[in-house]
Amino acid sequence: MLSRNCGLGVAILAIVVILTTTMAAETHVSKQAFGHTADGAAVDLYALSDGKVEVRIMTYGGIIVSLRTPDRNGKLDDVVLGFDSVDQYIAKNTPYFGALVGRYGNRIAHGSFQLDGKTYSTPKNNGDNTLHGGIRGFDKVVWAGKQIADGVELTYVSKDGEEGFPGTLTATVRYTLKGSALRIEYSASTDKDTVLNLTNHSYFDLAGQGRGDILGHVVKIDAERMTPVDAGLIPTGELKAVAGTPFDFRRPHAVGERIDVNDEQLRLGGGYDHNFVLDHASGVLAEAAEVYEPSTGRVLQVLTDQPGVQLYTGNFLDGTITGKEGRVYQRRFGLCLETQHYPDSPNHPSFPTTELKPGEKFHSVTVFKFSAGSR
Ligand code: BGC
Repeated sequence: MLSRNCGLGVAILAIVVILTTTMAAETHVSKQAFGHTADGAAVDLYALSDGKVEVRIMTYGGIIVSLRTPDRNGKLDDVVLGFDSVDQYIAKNTPYFGALVGRYGNRIAHGSFQLDGKTYSTPKNNGDNTLHGGIRGFDKVVWAGKQIADGVELTYVSKDGEEGFPGTLTATVRYTLKGSALRIEYSASTDKDTVLNLTNHSYFDLAGQGRGDILGHVVKIDAERMTPVDAGLIPTGELKAVAGTPFDFRRPHAVGERIDVNDEQLRLGGGYDHNFVLDHASGVLAEAAEVYEPSTGRVLQVLTDQPGVQLYTGNFLDGTITGKEGRVYQRRFGLCLETQHYPDSPNHPSFPTTELKPGEKFHSVTVFKFSAGSR
């Protein structure tokens, strides 16, 4: 009798365990009003939680406003830089904190490129160059939001000629959260030949946002080559081997280990602000980079099917921005891993193409996967 009761108890316990695990694995998604833009457009905030990681994304700029992940002791902290309100994102001239960047992420030299024999001009908002889609890029528009399973789908229709780019481009970005992995799925189509390069511009500090610099973060990037730049941070066209340089992250290195060594490329970028040529085949979703923060044990794995990733170490942050929780963002307080095509590709026929034609569908996936532990 006793053993039969015992067996029943074990069975019930097993069912409860299975149920709670299944329930914990389900992602909860909710939506709330988050304010308005200067011209009165309503902005919504979507909150995603998979029971371990919590992400908040707003429809203005498709911006990841906060991302809370557990450290090795299970303590949650926000690991991305940003602001507390939409007004601040608009007023404070944000350096693309958490934003969806487009139509063309990174730089286009001299605000000009040729396509089908025609010359197109885009706004010069970064010295002589176009940066991150121009003056009003995808980070500064309100996207249409829709709740989907495990996340949110954002859509933006960019008009023919917007910021100088040809073709009406319909862009859709799906953010979904499951198993501590934030998946960003980009798709786009156009009605005229155009160029595009979409990415997310989150600034990570895995020790907790605004707490200090990211020089102790240990980074690994699966890239044998990088694209060296000129003084305007435009690629020279060369694909340079990283071996024997401070850009060799094929084995993990702390960001601060070599960032200030005497190296022309580091001097030009004021630190790391460079595109790495990923080893894996383009179009195949694979691990591209990994970041480990020793004091908290947090780990970020970046998977992508894009051919490149820009490592930007927040060299232009200078203490003039006060962000979430009143924290002041000093130089190198954030680290970006912007999965992308190479900068200025429209002016480099030898780089993987960023052209999109009518009838084609652009599709790309990047995953930010979080965990924690000791090494
Ligand atoms: C660029 C940096 C730039 C930063 C913020 C990065 O993607 O590479 O040069 O300062 O974005 O705008």
